[in-house]
Amino acid sequence: MDLFEAIEKRASVRSLRPVDVPDADLERILDAGRRAPSGRNIQPFEFIVVKDPNTIRKLAKAQSCVGDVSVLIAVVADPTKSTYWLEDLSAATENMLLAITALGYATVWVEGTLLRAEEEHKKVLGVPENLRLMVVLPIGKAAEPVAQAPKRPLPEVVHWERYGNMQR
Ligand SMILES: Cc1cc2nc3c(=O)[nH]c(=O)nc-3n(C[C@H](O)[C@H](O)[C@H](O)COP(=O)(O)O)c2cc1C
Repeated sequence: MDLFEAIEKRASVRSLRPVDVPDADLERILDAGRRAPSGRNIQPFEFIVVKDPNTIRKLAKAQSCVGDVSVLIAVVADPTKSTYWLEDLSAATENMLLAITALGYATVWVEGTLLRAEEEHKKVLGVPENLRLMVVLPIGKAAEPVAQAPKRPLPEVVHWERYGNMQR
């Protein structure tokens, strides 16, 4: 799948079913994450790959669909390393979302529900105190066909030359 198709097909899939994800695919996804741009190229993010069903079950307390897969990637970052840690981590996450989609899997950016009990989830994964655990990406297949949520049309979000000029 080419990049533009992956951008168009990427959707938040919350109805997931488990699927075998070969390590070669996992490495391509993780490689896409590590290649993300980061402020001053500090790369303050790291990834935790989780396959252990017990650990996955514990993380599913954040959001139940996390428990419906056989592998997930957790994204952590060190806020003391860069002012841009959140942007950097987000860029890495988006790269991985697109790679997951391009390889034919489905996922969802789990952050809001995870952060409600971040400390508890950090303990589950043994994440050091000074790091933030921001995102979990469960990787599975879509249990049913899913489309990307509706987006604002281009003419509504693009300004030409000056803010407010919506005509090309
Ligand atoms: C910062 C951020 C946090 C998010 N947190 C959650 C979450 O905790 N749980 C969830 O199901 N989706 C989460 N999402 C996914 C959004 O709900 C989703 O991207 C949005 O509804 C648009 O749908 P789409 O991804 O299909 O375009 C998050 C997305 C972002 C960018």
